[in-house]
Amino acid sequence: MSQPERQAYRARILHFLHEPEDKGEAAWQYFDDGVLLVENGHIRAVGPADQILQNFTGPVEDFSRYLIVPGFVDCHIHYPQTEMIAAYGEQLLSWLKNYTYPTEQKFSDSQYAASVAAFSLDELLRNGTTTALVFASVHPQSVDAFFNEAQKRNLRMIAGKVLMDRNAPVELCETAETGYQQSRELIQRWHGVDRLRYAVTPRFAITSSREQLAKAAELLREFPDVYLHTHLAENRLEVDEVKKSFPEAEDYLDVYDNAGLLGRRSIFAHGIHLCDRECTRLAQTHSVVAHCPTSNLFLGSGKFDMTKMRRFGVRVGMGTDVGAGTSFSLLRTMDEAYKVQQLLGGKLDPFQAFYMATLGGARALDLDDKIGNFEPGKEADFCVLDLQATPLLQFRLQHSHSLSDLLFVLQTLGDDRVIARTYAMGHCVHQRQEIS
Ligand code: GUN
Ligand code: ZN
Repeated sequence: MSQPERQAYRARILHFLHEPEDKGEAAWQYFDDGVLLVENGHIRAVGPADQILQNFTGPVEDFSRYLIVPGFVDCHIHYPQTEMIAAYGEQLLSWLKNYTYPTEQKFSDSQYAASVAAFSLDELLRNGTTTALVFASVHPQSVDAFFNEAQKRNLRMIAGKVLMDRNAPVELCETAETGYQQSRELIQRWHGVDRLRYAVTPRFAITSSREQLAKAAELLREFPDVYLHTHLAENRLEVDEVKKSFPEAEDYLDVYDNAGLLGRRSIFAHGIHLCDRECTRLAQTHSVVAHCPTSNLFLGSGKFDMTKMRRFGVRVGMGTDVGAGTSFSLLRTMDEAYKVQQLLGGKLDPFQAFYMATLGGARALDLDDKIGNFEPGKEADFCVLDLQATPLLQFRLQHSHSLSDLLFVLQTLGDDRVIARTYAMGHCVHQRQEIS
């Protein structure tokens, strides 16, 4: 769908400039009757409608009954697992063996990979997610397929080829050297092309030898601005297994640290079972943990303690972790994150949750100079939320009298039905319904 070069959107508008847990009410800007002005795919201005429209003569889309927020950022997802979401009855290690590895073998077929990549990207957009950090499969063609589809939609996406050289079916195992070479070629082909970036992606310590982890670190040294994306301390049996196979390491994180894999562009999914030393070391190295609550509950992995992460100063993003996660929706993810903190006696404030799904996610992925809020010059990725998407939402929100309550109701009751439209670089890439 084409948009004019300059376009104004009139709506309720919310975005974050800081972290609510640090700055309180100064962390966000909210306009009850606001305008988002987009020019050539970038944010030109945001503010009260009367101010912005004074000097504006171009087209104005009227979304007055809707809420515009920045596009959501998913800090951890596996696109090949879309077809096996909601697989019954296992915890991590048997779930990988019984469901995941057989499924991922199909991604040696480029055409098949392209069809699943297209479906997964459209599903992300249907849920208001415009940026994600993505596991492909071990096959380089699965990365080509994903990036091709992301490029067609002009999305800001980070992805990488899985590295595995042991403890997985032979069909999915490579050598440390071939994994390195194939990753290197993919980096050269895709990293920095359009809005795409590459993540070096060892699956986890169980499926990568020391040699392979060392090769991953070599890639990070050769290409210092690529990402590192892996799993960490998700499940107790996994942690025990890692302890056994790396007896020289102080703990799980130390395996990655010894290889040279920590840093501000290193994202570790889960991090549920971490000791104080590991938290300290994550903070020291500015590494990021991706919290994936729907997955952690679904696989029975454990409760991620956000308060503890904050105490140690660990950077945290939020991820769906589809297919162990049970929804593509960051709204569903915020809801489950809230409930996990409830079980731990903590609180996840709705402003903090929406921050984590937008600017917080962008910061976690070191993309906050490009996306995450509506500062002028940033890329115009945003979604339009329908506050009356379901009868229950409509009814409940008649009894809502604060922004905090509105956001909390949206995250608790909302899902893909709430996402009326999604925009990437100022172009509509998903439209649920005509806006009335
Ligand atoms: N640990 C290693 N691989 C995976 C995976 O595919 N999903 C999850 N949730 N954890 C993992
Ligand atoms: Zn995962």
